[in-house]
This record gives sequence, C-alpha cells and structure tokens, in this order.
Amino acid sequence: MSASLAGRHLVVSAGPTFEDIDPVRFIGNRSSGKMGFAIAAVAAARGARVTLVAGPVHQPTPAGVQRVDVRSAAQMHAAVFAALPCDAYIGAAAVADFTPRAFAAGKLKKTPGQDTLVLELVKTRDILAEVAARAQRPRLVVGFAAETDNVAGYARGKLERKGVDLVCANQVGVGATGFESDDNALLVLGHDGFERALGPAAKSALAGLLLDLVAERIGR
Ligand code: CTP
Repeated sequence: MSASLAGRHLVVSAGPTFEDIDPVRFIGNRSSGKMGFAIAAVAAARGARVTLVAGPVHQPTPAGVQRVDVRSAAQMHAAVFAALPCDAYIGAAAVADFTPRAFAAGKLKKTPGQDTLVLELVKTRDILAEVAARAQRPRLVVGFAAETDNVAGYARGKLERKGVDLVCANQVGVGATGFESDDNALLVLGHDGFERALGPAAKSALAGLLLDLVAERIGR
C-alpha cells in the first residue's frame, strides 16, 4: 500500500530553464519536465498539497496541483522561495548553471569579419542548496543529478556539497531512459550509505516509489 501524504506540503520544481540572450535566442536544455510533473501528480493523488514550479514545458497540469510557470533560473528561484515553507522540496528541474551576464535588448547581429562570438555567462543561484541551507529548512530536501559517467560518485558528491537529504541520480545520454523519455531509472542516495535503485520503470511508477521514500521520512 502506498503511504499517504495527507496534510503535507510539497514543493516540486520541474523542467528546464531558459536563459535569454536576446529577444530571439536563449540557452536551454533538453529536460521535458516529465519526471517532476509525475512526482507532483502522484503526490497530489496521495493527498499532499503540491506547488509545482514549472519551467517552459508542454505538459498538462496534474489534477489538484498548484502550478507556477517560470522561464529563467532567477524566476524559478523566486517562485520556489515564495512557495515555502514546505515539508519537502523536490528539485527535479534542470536549472541552468549559468546565465548570460547581460540581456541584449536588440537581436545580436553578426559582425563582418568576425568568426567568433564570446558570450559571457555568470553562475545562477543554486536553488536546491539555498533551500537546504535555510534556517527554516524543509524536513526533507531532495535533489536530482543528471550524470553521464561516474553516476554514483558525482551524485554522492552533490549530496554532501548541497547539504541535501537524498539525491536521485540518473544516467543521461545512454539507452532509452532519462531526458525526453517516458521511462527512467534512478539511483537514490542518502546519508549513512543509503542507496536504492528504482526502476527502470515508467516515470509515474518511479514517482510513486520515490514518494514512498519521501513519506517514510516526513510521515507522522
Ligand atoms: N539546481 C538548482 N539550482 C541551480 C542548479 C541546480 O536548484 N542553479 C538543482 C537541480 O534542480 C537539481 C540539482 O541541483 O536538483 C542538479 O544539480 P546539477 O546542476 O547537476 O549540479 P551541479 O552542482 O551543477 O553539478 P555539475 O556541475 O557536476 O553538473
């Protein structure tokens, strides 16, 4: 039987962020938002109040979920912090790590004779790490890690560095799971050597398995 989340508030981030360069160009990534939307849907079905902060994706809003649409990493940061406090924060969004230092109000033009363009990028604020470092921290903070190699090693590093309770790692760039897919496989890592492989399975089924772990940790 699946654990109830009645009376709990979950904040879930999902999808990519788009960092605008000029009025027609942006830096984005291939996140579809499916994993975060599946988590929000299942959490709401299990009785949680869910705030879903969604980057630019084409996904229907799950039943019973309060959705806040954003575009950039800075907007996602603001929307997540506006949604706090919560019992659990699940950062499933693929937030841009860097954003253009300046937005060009007019479309950038080619310069005759110049074969290169240097775009200066600055680091975005780390939403996950900042939520985890807050004085009134959610009881549970869950991060995601998309890695192409040394999945467990890099993900365990993220667990420590960002001060989160669980990291869900998925290997991207191989096979039929991960970004853009309906299926996924996660390796969930926690403190004291906690390690649990979930899937491969449909993202909705994986969301249920992950929320079992969440409910165990924030349950009554
Ligand atoms: N994340 C965030 N804010 C950012 C960047 C990432 O909240 N500005 C969160 C994502 O939502 C996800 C996790 O951090 O939960 C993913 O981290 P990732 O960007 O892969 O980690 P990095 O520390 O940037 O590691 P690396 O440079 O090794 O990819």
